Formats: sequence, structure tokens, C-alpha cells
Amino acid sequence: MVKIAPAEITPEHVFLNRRQFMAAAGVTAGSLALAACSPATLSNTSAPAADAEPALTRALGAEKLPEALSLAEPTASKSQDELGDPLNQFQEITNYNNFYEFSTNKEAVASEAAGFNPYPWQVQVTGLVNNPLVLDLDDIYKRYTQEERIYRLRCVEAWSMVIPWVGFPISALLKDADPKSDAKYVRFVTVYRPDEMRGQRSSVLEWPYQEGLRLDEAMHPLAILGTGMYGKPLTNQQGAPIRLVVPWKYGFKSIKSVVTIELTDSIPATTWNDAAPNEYGFYANVNPEVNHPRWSQASERRIGESGRRDTLMFNGYAEEVASLYAGMDLSGNF
Ligand code: MTE
Repeated sequence: MVKIAPAEITPEHVFLNRRQFMAAAGVTAGSLALAACSPATLSNTSAPAADAEPALTRALGAEKLPEALSLAEPTASKSQDELGDPLNQFQEITNYNNFYEFSTNKEAVASEAAGFNPYPWQVQVTGLVNNPLVLDLDDIYKRYTQEERIYRLRCVEAWSMVIPWVGFPISALLKDADPKSDAKYVRFVTVYRPDEMRGQRSSVLEWPYQEGLRLDEAMHPLAILGTGMYGKPLTNQQGAPIRLVVPWKYGFKSIKSVVTIELTDSIPATTWNDAAPNEYGFYANVNPEVNHPRWSQASERRIGESGRRDTLMFNGYAEEVASLYAGMDLSGNF
């Protein structure tokens, strides 16, 4: 069994920054308490120019977007994450994407996704809940305060980025749906639109893409539904208009363009686990000690940097999330 000792993993020099980060993300050390998060004040720092307006801004008009998503220029409140690493640029984040519904070529996803229509959009919350929900995008913006979260994204392919998301905790939406006592897992499903998503006409994966979390993972304050990035709505290639962001897990768990959120009592099937069960597990927590069968997970390439850097346990969020997996065999449950 892999023993997790967050104190050994967290570099000492980041301790203070981490404290501030956890407070900002509403994380109480050692507990799963949900604290209210105040919306980030977005100031004009580190503001690279956008290539194009996100489709959603065009469709809705900036005046219908919540304040945190309606900035004229893409903007983040900080230029670094809590470990002191610089944010990736807007252009990097939006031109190197995994979104097999459009293309398996990361650099072609942006252009292949250009014609996708992220509005109007509905998300249904269904299954083992007392209060099933069908929310359109305007409801989502109205109900849930959009806040900034600067997170590392670590792809299972061993590259990573630092991304200033805008979004809200999934826990807020799940609490509104009021899970029944036998609900143990949450299943997420991407929209199925083969007419707009060319990749869905191929058999490269089973469609629609689906993912899952344990309910307590989904309730964790670091798990968000992302609606924007750099203070703008999500671009199509990032999973507009709404996607999952679970920063301590490999990127494939962060499912894009979500339409269904279903509470279940048994472990849901997930796309990559179905495609290659020996390579991609249900948990998919970032773990430098458990290699992918075909490559090492000990290090990663940060997009925009030369050389490699060490991969951190739980992608650097061990202090916040390790307790979710206390007593679990992390190499068996990869
Ligand atoms: N969601 C869907 N629906 N389809 C996909 O192909 N790719 C996943 C994940 N979500 C994927 C998806 C993978 S492998 C990664 S690494 C991240 O999205 C990439 O997110 P990004 O393109 O915003 O960096």
C-alpha cells in the first residue's frame, strides 16, 4: 500500500502560499467542510490577448454573462499558482487540447470545434436525488456564484498546464439536487451531437464520453464545474459551456461539455476505463509512484517550459484531498 504523507510531499517554501490558497478555495485543512467562497476580484494582471471571442460571448452578448465572465479582455487575478508557478498563456491553453469529439490532434481541436453551438444548453441532474434539476445556462449563472480557481491540470500523457478557471463548486449544485441516502457515485455525460462533433462519427472511443466520481470526491470543495477561463466564457475546445475540473486527478476525468449529471448507487462506467481497463482506472488520481503501463508518471512536461519537472502526489493537492483515500491501496485503485 502506498502511504501518503502530505507533509513530506508539500515543499516547505510553498507552505504559506498554500495556506492562502486553501483559504481562498474554501478548504478547511483536514476536513471536508464547505465554506462559502467569495468571488475572485479580477484585476488586470497577466492578460494575454484572446485569439477570438468564445462562441458563448457571441451567442449571449457580454451583458448576459455574469460579471466574472464578461470581461472585455481575458484576465486573471494572479500571474502564478499557489506554488509560485506562472499561469499558462491563454493561447497555449486554447490551442493544445484533448477533445476527441473533435479531433485526436491537439492542435486541430480549436479549429474543428469552431462551429460547435454551446448555447442554448441544458444540464440535467438526475438519478438518486430528491430534487431532480434541469438547468439552462442562464439558471446556472444566476444560481451559482462564479469564482476564479487557479489550478494545475496534469494530463495522463505527462504534460501539464496552470489554468485560471472560472466556475463553481459541484457541491453547490449537488446540494440543490439533494442526493438520496443510497447515492454513492456521480456520473457525468458529454453532449452527443455527431453532426457538430466529427469525432463522434468515428469509433475512436465509445460515445458519448462519460466520467464518474465518488460522491464524496464530487462534494470536495476543490472539485468545480468550470464555465470560464481567464475571466471569459470557456472556448469550445475547452468544453464550452460547462465542464468538470478535478485538479488532483488526471485530466481525462475532467469531462467537457457536460449535459447529464446522474447520481448512482454503483460505480459508473467511464470512457477511458472501458477503452483500456489496464491503463486507465476509475480513480485516476495523479500519482508519481504508479506508472502508466507504457510510460513513467514520475515527471511531466509543463507546456511552455523546456525540460521536465517532478510530478507531485495528487498533483500538489495532497494536503487537501489525501484524506479522501485514507486506508485505500492507491496502486490497486489507480
Ligand atoms: N472530455 C471529453 N468529452 N472528451 C475528451 O476527449 N479529453 C480529456 C478531458 N476531457 C476529453 C474530455 C483529457 S484526456 C484531458 S487531458 C482534458 O480534457 C484536457 O482538457 P483541455 O483540453 O482543456 O486542456
